[in-house]
Amino acid sequence: MICVGSGGVGKTTTSAVIGLQAALAGMRVLVLTIDPARRLANSLGIDAIGSELQQIPLELFQEVGLEPEGEMWAMMLDMKESFDRIVERDAPDEETQQEILENRFYHYFSTSLAGTQEYAASERLYDLHEEDQFDLIVLDTPPTTHALDFLEAPKRLADAVSSRALQWLYKPGILSGTPGRGILSVGTSYVTRTLSKFTGGELIDELRVFLRTFSTLFDGFEERARSVQKLLCSDETGFVVVTAPDTLTVEEALYFYDQLDSDALNVDAFVVNRVHPKWVDEAAMERAEYTLAGELESLQSRVDAEFVDANELAEGLLENALQFQLRATQDAGSIEKMGDELPSSMPIACVPYFNQDIHSLSGLDTARQELFS
Ligand SMILES: Nc1ncnc2c1ncn2[C@@H]1O[C@H](COP(=O)(O)OP(=O)(O)O)[C@@H](O)[C@H]1O
Ligand SMILES: [Mg+2]
Repeated sequence: MICVGSGGVGKTTTSAVIGLQAALAGMRVLVLTIDPARRLANSLGIDAIGSELQQIPLELFQEVGLEPEGEMWAMMLDMKESFDRIVERDAPDEETQQEILENRFYHYFSTSLAGTQEYAASERLYDLHEEDQFDLIVLDTPPTTHALDFLEAPKRLADAVSSRALQWLYKPGILSGTPGRGILSVGTSYVTRTLSKFTGGELIDELRVFLRTFSTLFDGFEERARSVQKLLCSDETGFVVVTAPDTLTVEEALYFYDQLDSDALNVDAFVVNRVHPKWVDEAAMERAEYTLAGELESLQSRVDAEFVDANELAEGLLENALQFQLRATQDAGSIEKMGDELPSSMPIACVPYFNQDIHSLSGLDTARQELFS
């Protein structure tokens, strides 16, 4: 299950909430996060989530009165490390592996080139799925504005690797038509000599080593990227679009939906997070200021507290309630409009705006009860 959505809407929180629900329902579930923020670890009651599988201890659930029948595991998907793993797995021998890992071009490739880390992460997800240790894997996607990059990365990398431009650099004979070598592997070629003049021979050497060694991995890429893509498109994978209730974010969520839908990916549900609840009923809203002030004064006489000024407080409270009411009405309106744009069968679940951050297991459980009620 993959949670997508704009930055800050609550993807990480929602992933954990879904994981909690699954664990309580008896599943062995893994929450896979890409968010390096410690908040998730904090809310799960553990010090930090590392790049190794980690089970949330049963005691932590019991402390807040929960008895999960299943197990909840968490893991942080370190994208840089994920790529190193691929090298370690696929390099033909130890020497090549070392050569790649120490290469400056590899370093650039695996950390800075758009999409490579997302690719590595999706491969890791694929591996975890293949290992079949879990009933459910909930994936939290990175805090980027392009949440779909992650999903498109496998295909994009496969395309890049099989592109003529790249093959021209490393594959034998593409340019010359002779069964020779790729253009950079010809040490004395005109291209190499000219490039060396500008960049220094050392850098070219390094690029040559990178292409020679790294090309040993290229062949595997295409095939694996296709398998990853297939898994994402299969019925085994479902997407949850997380959004905030404001008009702009809802628009972005609908855009995500269109993209996913046009790629034939299964969107299972929408979660609208941080919905302003209607705190006060209509009758109370209509209560006059002086009535409220009177009530506050009688309350004041019953408790051992002193208000600044009952009239002022009543005015402030009513103004505040009015603002909240307005937000609540706007939220309800944009959620309804969103529903109109979606297939009528699409479940839309709302989680209210809590008066504090969700930073504990019991906070997650409160959100869970709202989401699954
Ligand atoms: N319904 C909510 N009410 C109050 N705070 C929330 C709610 N949902 C999430 N938060 C808080 O908002 C912050 C951002 O949420 P997070 O899940 O990290 O978003 P994302 O992963 O989409 O960037 C966190 O501090 C989280 O505790
Ligand atoms: Mg996040």
